[in-house]
Amino acid sequence: MSNGTFGIGRETRIVRSGARRVFTPHSPVDDISHFFGREEEASRFVSVINTEGQHVLVFGDRGVGKTSLAITTCRVLLQRVMGGGKYIEKRCDSSDTFESIVLNVLRALEIEHQNREMTQTTNRGGKASIKIPVAGAELDSHRQNAVKVLHQVSLSSPSWVAEQLQSKPGIFLIDEVDAVAGKEDRKKLAELVKLLSDNKSPLKVVLVGIASTGSDLTAGHPSVQRCLKEVQLKRMDDDDIKKIIRNGFKKLGQVPTEEVVTRITDISAGLPHFTHLICLKCAEASVVSGNKHIGSEVLTAALIESVKDSENALKDSYTNCLHSFNKPLEYKVIVLGAAQCKGSEFRAYDIRQQLQDRVGLDVEAAIISRRLTAIAAKAGGIIEKCGRGYYRFVDPRMPSFVKLLHGADKQSAA
Ligand SMILES: Nc1ncnc2c1ncn2[C@@H]1O[C@H](COP(=O)(O)OP(=O)(O)OP(=O)(O)O)[C@@H](O)[C@H]1O
Ligand SMILES: [Mg+2]
Repeated sequence: MSNGTFGIGRETRIVRSGARRVFTPHSPVDDISHFFGREEEASRFVSVINTEGQHVLVFGDRGVGKTSLAITTCRVLLQRVMGGGKYIEKRCDSSDTFESIVLNVLRALEIEHQNREMTQTTNRGGKASIKIPVAGAELDSHRQNAVKVLHQVSLSSPSWVAEQLQSKPGIFLIDEVDAVAGKEDRKKLAELVKLLSDNKSPLKVVLVGIASTGSDLTAGHPSVQRCLKEVQLKRMDDDDIKKIIRNGFKKLGQVPTEEVVTRITDISAGLPHFTHLICLKCAEASVVSGNKHIGSEVLTAALIESVKDSENALKDSYTNCLHSFNKPLEYKVIVLGAAQCKGSEFRAYDIRQQLQDRVGLDVEAAIISRRLTAIAAKAGGIIEKCGRGYYRFVDPRMPSFVKLLHGADKQSAA
């Protein structure tokens, strides 16, 4: 460390500025004041939750803002519409099963979830009975009959779980359902939703996950469609991305130029993660320099920092793919042209157009076509064929990452 302070002075200034609370590339938004756009999806979400017997399924591509929409809307709903009720959140991973998921909600609602011997008492003169655990039970033996019964837990049974949950008001958010490996487990989740719906439960379930169709997340359970309403999230509009940029910088008292706003919007391509990432790097640079004006020089330096902070999976698949060719530079140009195309699918012709317009390069469509075929043929390639003459990026975030790299490259070359 050159100055022996481990960068602590710089860090302290950044933390005090609040920039990392305003721009949060690595965590979902959970506060309405940082949440932009999505009016249509949020109001559908609200109306579904407020309809008896209906539950919500939020799905879409990686990083479009699914968790942010679900968390922010649930919070608002519980505070302003449902008048309370518990909010329980479970983020799944590949080791989760139906049992491990429902265990979360049972624990949070303080529902007995272990087999236990209970003492059931009956008043001699009447029929009323209560259950109390054996340990610590104090019975008036003159007036009550006591019978030992077993509180039988059946965590793997959707109907047992539904019975325990159905009278409890609140929202149970199950995020990253796509990570749950077992098809049977996902089917059981769908079954649980169906049972809660049939019983008009005030406990609402929100399922969230990466998928191109809603039924991917419920393993195609047929009868759940009536009660599990889908909210599909697509990329954000450019206007809403601009709101994230402008409002964020405004909160920090920083002023970006119009060119900076336009370039961040272009790189983001509707994915708010990249907006937050680049804006955060710009904001940090501005805090450290003390210059509230954010121009193109600050932006290009921020792009270099953003590349460093990007997900390794993106960096690795990009580098591995290009380095598997003898002349990686020739392929890099094609990938850049593809990243500049509007829309998720592109042809060799579209890439040619982009390279001409944006980079001033004229490459024959036949050459582009050959290289696209070669990239798509590679195992672990970053582009795949999706129709006759049509291609797309395997990871929908890749075009933004490629543009980020290109912006950072320009700075390094200067
Ligand atoms: N409506 C919004 N307004 C402002 N920022 C948003 C909005 N939606 C998402 N973001 C930001 O975008 C990034 C990704 O959001 P989020 O984690 O909600 O996406 P996701 O679709 O759940 O991602 P994943 O597929 O990885 O689970 C986060 O940095 C979050 O802060
Ligand atoms: Mg998420």
